[in-house]
Amino acid sequence: MSSRIPLPYSPKVLELFRNPKNLGPMEDATVVESAGSPACGDMIRLYLKIVNIDGVDIIEKATFESYGCAANIATASILTEMIIGKKVEDAWKISWKYLSDQLGGLPPIKYHCSILAVGALKRGIRAYYKKVGSHPDWLPKDLTTEEKQVFEEEEIMMRYYSSLKTLGEGR
Ligand code: FES
Repeated sequence: MSSRIPLPYSPKVLELFRNPKNLGPMEDATVVESAGSPACGDMIRLYLKIVNIDGVDIIEKATFESYGCAANIATASILTEMIIGKKVEDAWKISWKYLSDQLGGLPPIKYHCSILAVGALKRGIRAYYKKVGSHPDWLPKDLTTEEKQVFEEEEIMMRYYSSLKTLGEGR
């Protein structure tokens, strides 16, 4: 008998986990950015196609690849749905908490899945402006708290993964 207790995922998380939207790589992406760690498996890669229409930067297409859990897939899926057609400036304002709320809430142990999804988006937006060589007024010069959280999560994941590896090698 399994001793694992199922996580209390919302119906929306389960629905998007089973039928994710905008899944897969994008050949003509303007930028591709990741958050998480490929070493421990919890990772999202976000593909963005950004176009400038009459001086306004718009996210024309967004897709993702996920190497994480159900919550990671669901958060990445709903994020891509939310940002397609949006001004980059408005997409920047999406927080991980907002994302989680739109999914009907995430179990606290899964907050980092949403943090990674938003982190990949913010990295993608910064990468875009680096690529085009401009810095709009609304884009903070320094990393925001949410962006720093992603680095913290990545560090925690790597430490956790290293300790598991060490335990495995000690057997
Ligand atoms: Fe790590 Fe969801 S991405 S538990």
